[in-house]
Amino acid sequence: MEHRTTQAVLGLLLNANGAISGQSISKILGITRSAVWKHIERLRESGYEIASATRRGYTLGARPNCPLPAEVLPHLRTKTVGQAYRFLTETDSTNRVAGELAKAGAPEGAVVTADCQTGGRGRMQRRWFSPAGANLYMSVILRPAMPPAQAQGIALVAAAASLRAIHDLFPNLLPQVKWPNDVFVHNRKLAGILCDMQSEADRIHYLVLGIGINVNMAESDFPPEIRPSATSLQVEFGGPVNRPQVAASWLNHFEQAYTDWLENGLARFIPELTEQSILLGRHVVLRQERTVFQGVVTGLSRNGGLRMRLDDGSERVLLAGDVHVQDW
Ligand code: BTN
Repeated sequence: MEHRTTQAVLGLLLNANGAISGQSISKILGITRSAVWKHIERLRESGYEIASATRRGYTLGARPNCPLPAEVLPHLRTKTVGQAYRFLTETDSTNRVAGELAKAGAPEGAVVTADCQTGGRGRMQRRWFSPAGANLYMSVILRPAMPPAQAQGIALVAAAASLRAIHDLFPNLLPQVKWPNDVFVHNRKLAGILCDMQSEADRIHYLVLGIGINVNMAESDFPPEIRPSATSLQVEFGGPVNRPQVAASWLNHFEQAYTDWLENGLARFIPELTEQSILLGRHVVLRQERTVFQGVVTGLSRNGGLRMRLDDGSERVLLAGDVHVQDW
């Protein structure tokens, strides 16, 4: 059964302004009545509520709160990001799938999203809790023409896009960035960013920028080990949240921020990221592979490094690491 025809049937239901008969759908799309019925069934399986009455035909009711292409794409204002868009009901990791697609030549801006991940990955070999029906798991393929060392900035660019998207949809929330790539609200983690890169010494083959956003999770839905430190848009906003809307807003803001970064560099993001940094003035432990730094965070450098006044009084700019806040 043609997927495009299912989308066309959905398009007719959306535009119907009430009921549309099976006969009209069959005539407009040039398919049989029984084919119409099969496409309607397929839409119902995806979560669309469609009532059918003998003489009036089909009426679209509630729509799925799921980042299906038909729910997200109409809200995109992008040139490349999300213009190729793949939704999977279940996968191990959207970053892995996007990596495979990138290797096979998928274009810049292609997006892979899933309702559920069985092997969602976080930074530092951690797992990312990825149940079905609640959150957003998205990966974007990028092919920036820049040396690999410069690409580190993408995590901060994605973090800035996340702040802006959340601010647009929920102006009362006060999201903050935990350098380099987490988004927090009320001292709890709302979203995480993971960037995988394939490169040679001086050339990036591709980046896969993955983001996981906790959307419709109640506090009790989080596993006990992350419950005290995790939050969701639903918890913070105080009611159910439209997942496709959050996905589209993030993709729109991400494209804008990414384009700005490519054209003008990272420096213009620094004031906004500093102002909304959860680490500013905090005493932290920053772990790198072989070294541990302790001190107070004093800001961000122009190239996105973390400025610290170490406990021995020296000033350092650190370009990578895992940060743990000591005075929470
Ligand atoms: C972190 O905070 O450690 C980063 C979490 C990143 C999770 C996202 S969900 C979509 C994409 N696919 C993955 O397997 N991970 C990222």
